[in-house]
Formats: sequence, C-alpha cells, structure tokens
Amino acid sequence: MSSNAQVRIDAECGAQSAATSIPLPTHWYHFLPDLPVALPPVKDELTPSAAEVAQRVRPAALLAQDRPADQWVPIPEPVADRLRHIGRPTPLHRARALESALGTGAHIYLKREDVLPTGSFKLNSAVAQAYYAAEEGRTTLISETGAGQWGMSVALAAALLGLDSEVFMVRCSLAQKPYRRHYMELLGATVHASPSPDTKFGQQLLARNPEHPGSLGTAISDAIQFALDFGPGAAYLSGSGVPHVYLHQTLLGLEVQAQLAALEEPIGVPGRGDHLIACSGGGSNLCGLVGPFLKQAGDQGRDLRLLAAESTAAPRLTAGRYQYGRSDLAGFTPEVLGYSMGPDFVPPPVHTAGLRNHHSSSTVSLLRHEGLLDAVAIEEKRALEAGRLVLRTEGFLLAPESTHAVAAAIEVATRAKEADTDPVLVVLASGSGLLDLQSYGEVLLGSGR
Ligand SMILES: Cc1ncc(COP(=O)(O)O)c(C=O)c1O
Repeated sequence: MSSNAQVRIDAECGAQSAATSIPLPTHWYHFLPDLPVALPPVKDELTPSAAEVAQRVRPAALLAQDRPADQWVPIPEPVADRLRHIGRPTPLHRARALESALGTGAHIYLKREDVLPTGSFKLNSAVAQAYYAAEEGRTTLISETGAGQWGMSVALAAALLGLDSEVFMVRCSLAQKPYRRHYMELLGATVHASPSPDTKFGQQLLARNPEHPGSLGTAISDAIQFALDFGPGAAYLSGSGVPHVYLHQTLLGLEVQAQLAALEEPIGVPGRGDHLIACSGGGSNLCGLVGPFLKQAGDQGRDLRLLAAESTAAPRLTAGRYQYGRSDLAGFTPEVLGYSMGPDFVPPPVHTAGLRNHHSSSTVSLLRHEGLLDAVAIEEKRALEAGRLVLRTEGFLLAPESTHAVAAAIEVATRAKEADTDPVLVVLASGSGLLDLQSYGEVLLGSGR
C-alpha cells in the first residue's frame, strides 16, 4: 500500500492521520526574508545595551540563528534525534466529530502539540536551545515562565542533557499551577517565584511591595539578572518572542505542509476562505505555523488567510497601538516596534497566562501592520467553552491558550457555513489542558470561587 493510501485510510478512520507517514523535516525555515518589508530597527540606548546583555547570557549559536545566512537551516542530527524521541512529527488530526457538531462542511485539522511529553509545543525549541548551550560548555539553563509550560520544557531539555536549570515563574501562576512546579522540581530544576528575593531586581520590587504578584515582565528581568550574575556557565533561554525561537518552531508549519500534501488536501484554494489559525502571546506557535506559508499567503492574493487569536485580557493586535516598547521591566531587552497595550498596562488575572503579554513581537506586529495577518480577540469563557466542545467531541483537553485558536476557528467555520463555503482550517493545538483543569473548573463549573 502506498504511504498516501495509508494516510487516507488513517484520515477516514479519524485516526491520528499523517503523523507517522511523514519524516521529520531535515531543516528549519528562516522565514524573515519572506516578510513583505524588513523588520523595523530596535532601539537599544541603555547601558549596558540589550545587545551586550544578550552576548553575555545567550549562547552564541542562538544569536547567530536570529539572522542565519541561508533560509534553510540544517537541524543538527542530535537535535533531530531528540525531536523524534519526544514524538515528532506530531499528528495532524482531522476533527470530524467537531465538524459534525458544528454542522460545517469545513475541514478542520488540529495540529496536535498537546501530545508532546511536557504537554506543549514549547519543547521543540527547548531541546534545540539546550543542545546549543551544552555545545558551548554552558552548565545551567536559566529562564522565565508564565503558566509553566515553557519552564517544564526547559527543565526536561536540561535533564535530558545532564544540565542544571533555574526557572523564574510568575508568583501568582506558581500559586495557581502547583503541579507544573512539581514537574520541574522532579526533573531537578530550581524554581523561583518572581519577583524573586534571589536577584537584585527582585529584591528592589519586593522591598516596595512584598505581595507583588509578578508578571512575565518581572520574570524575564529576574532570569536575565540571575544569568548575568551567575557567570560563564549560564545560558539564558527565551521561550518566545525572538527570531531563533520562531525558527525552531517552523517545524510546525513544515510538518503541516508535508502532512496536507500527503493527504492530498490542498490549502489556499481561491474563493474557499482557507485559514491557518493559532493563538498569539509571544508569537512563537503562530509564527512557527505560518512562517513556512508566508510566501504562499502573500502570492495568492489572500486566498490563504492567517489568523491570530488573542485574549480580550490583552488585545494588543485588535486594540493596541503600534509603538516602541520592551518585554521586560528592568530594561535588559531592546525596545521593539509592535502592537502594545502600553508599558503600564496590567492585564486582568485571567487563567490564560500564555496570552497575557502587554507588547507584541515586532515580527507578529509587522505581519499585522502589513495586512497579512488577521486577528480576533476571544473572551476566556468562550475559549474554554470551545475547549469543552473539543473534549466532548474529539476526546482531548486542550490548554486554555489553544482553546482561543479553536474558538476563532469555530467563528470562521460558522461564517463559512453562512457563505456556503467549505474551507480548510488548520488550527494549532499548542498544548494540553490536563494541568489547567483548575481553570476549566473555575470558569465553566464555578468551582473554587
Ligand atoms: C500552550 C501554550 N500555547 C500558546 C502559548 C503562547 O505562546 P506563543 O505566543 O509564544 O506561542 C503558550 C505560552 O505560554 C502556551 O503555554
């Protein structure tokens, strides 16, 4: 039987179609040259400059991957081995039961990153970054985490390579998600609440407010400060927002391209309203999915639409201003041009920590500014209702961040039904919600209030 025939049979059976039938991509794809215009320059006027800070704390190979010489960047064999080991390629699942429940003729595909061992796509970049850090003789991975998905991935990637890890987790999330802390600590990570008494930056914040709840901005600052003070063995890693992370995540779009081709399911067919849909916090699952399709989306006069689902708690792409800003509070990161809620914006305490950023990356913002990216803001309860529908129909529970993308897809499918079209919708299921049941319980079942 040909592999295409096998793929079709898998799809008919509603099984995890195409996943096992395509090989792991051999290269990552540097898509920034495919943007319609160049990224705007950063502002970097502080002392020490953000560039100097980055050179001290980030592995040199990762900084080089922010601007690779070639668009196709070979994946080193040890990284490829590790990616296979964690379960890549992941399934592209045709959600037929969800389609029936919606009464839509749309073909809805879920790219299932929730099946990875840490429960999210974040592991794709963590294993690559840990490899480069170890190659440069760094002994300790240091990073921040919001809800804990990235922190879990850093802790696992470190443990697999025999490295230490130090993770600064937003204080209020640490209280909400104790299981993610347990997971990191089981792997040998040291988990700090941010603001942290273990850094000069954190001490200053805590002196002013001992009950400070923390934010991604405080956690990034704490982690960079800790890495600067740690010495040469430190490697500071980012989970999102920077080009090398987007590069690693292009596995998502590359696998989807190969899987759709294997299924003989074309995407971007004129007049049908085909979409690629992902939630957007720091932009890495979105850019990883759409990056490899940018040329196609641009060439086709918008027959392939790219859609970002953000949270109404931080609606930067739909209601923010295009202005310079930075992602941390201490000023270690450069100012970048992006859609922003402003530096003083404090998002309401929703459960979807991964989408609570106050400033969007310049890449995502440029796509939006140039009219290549549509955006919709989804209210948390509506998102989690979409998550409940996926659980009841397809049988798996997605992370609150991912349910924003599903809710956006349901909106597109509903509009398509009214317009009598049957688009192909590829939705990035960025993570599992099994460790977010408290959030589902509180928002949908009224528990814990
Ligand atoms: C499961 C999951 N999905 C999505 C996101 C959003 O991140 P990004 O916008 O970088 O893809 C996060 C961030 O923590 C996450 O944990």
